[in-house]
Amino acid sequence: MTPATIRRTGSTSPHNNQPPTCHPHLVSMSLTMPSPPKPRILRCGRDSTRPARRRDRDARAGLIGPGGLPELLCHPGRVEIDDRVAVVTGAAAGIGQAIACRLAGHGARIVLADLGDCTQTLDMVADAGGEAIPVTADLRDDAEVQRLIEITMERFAGVHILVNCAGGGQPTARYPNATTAQWSAVLDLNLRTPMLATQLALPALSATGGVVVNIASTAGLDHAPYAWPEYAAAKAGLIRYTTAMADLPSRMDVRVTCVVPDWVRTPRAEAELAAMTADVRAAQPDPIPLPVVTDAVIELIRNDDLSGHVVVLRPGREPRSLTS
Ligand SMILES: NC(=O)c1ccc[n+]([C@@H]2O[C@H](COP(=O)([O-])OP(=O)(O)OC[C@H]3O[C@@H](n4cnc5c(N)ncnc54)[C@H](O)[C@@H]3O)[C@@H](O)[C@H]2O)c1
Repeated sequence: MTPATIRRTGSTSPHNNQPPTCHPHLVSMSLTMPSPPKPRILRCGRDSTRPARRRDRDARAGLIGPGGLPELLCHPGRVEIDDRVAVVTGAAAGIGQAIACRLAGHGARIVLADLGDCTQTLDMVADAGGEAIPVTADLRDDAEVQRLIEITMERFAGVHILVNCAGGGQPTARYPNATTAQWSAVLDLNLRTPMLATQLALPALSATGGVVVNIASTAGLDHAPYAWPEYAAAKAGLIRYTTAMADLPSRMDVRVTCVVPDWVRTPRAEAELAAMTADVRAAQPDPIPLPVVTDAVIELIRNDDLSGHVVVLRPGREPRSLTS
């Protein structure tokens, strides 16, 4: 596995003139310095001084996707991502991989959590000049989720952003033909795992004024029959879980938000669409480009007014907020 790339050596954070808290070089330096500056966890506070400048920079760097930022999400109060620690589940492929790379482009330090091999994502993050570590874990296992948060704390001493993206599944049978164990596994991965990861990360997120972004699906929103009911039910639960947590900022200084995409252009989705019969495929909308999803994720992270917020992404339509 490619070792983590350390992006800044011996530098101080541009935001608070404090050293990044987990830099090994700085940690070893602190052993020899008479009065080392006390490491401090950055908070997800508003970037009140530089929002316009940062936005211009993002636009120049191509970090803002086609069509620019969704109007309904625009807000002048911006939250910093640079130097913040982000845990992204399902980061080995597809949407999770795209989110991890996008966050790295914004300067976040990323923990890539996946059942699969994250080498490709690590290489992509490194190419973008970012820093990431992989954690291989089956996130349906409570102990593995716990281990993920522990590794993150050991390595980075904090969590600012949690993106619960691992989801889907490869059903061999679907409810009601699936066994209890089979459909329970789908509920676990798509609902229980994000709830547990959020719960276990809450103390760390609370300490930083952090944010959670859940990746749901329009399967959980629509009212038409759906061929994979347990997946639809889990995603519906994830959406309602998000809105039910809208008051968390007042209790724990943590925001929980959600993106609800229709088909998204990932290799897995393309393979699923390609396997459909022509008439079934013709009834499906064109998949959404990945940058539309990553735009929405970045916006939910950066706008600190958005709590319990759910953004629906449909092909060819403007992002729509379910909650305002
Ligand atoms: N692609 C779409 O069309 C689409 C549409 C709506 C919602 N979504 C949702 O977006 C998320 C990502 O979808 P995608 O299309 O990128 O899928 P993907 O299959 O490309 O990626 C999912 C990743 O999650 C990982 N994963 C699966 N089970 C895991 C487990 N038990 N523990 C840890 N990691 C595990 C996989 O290894 C994979 O890397 C899912 O939650 C999915 O439900 C996708």
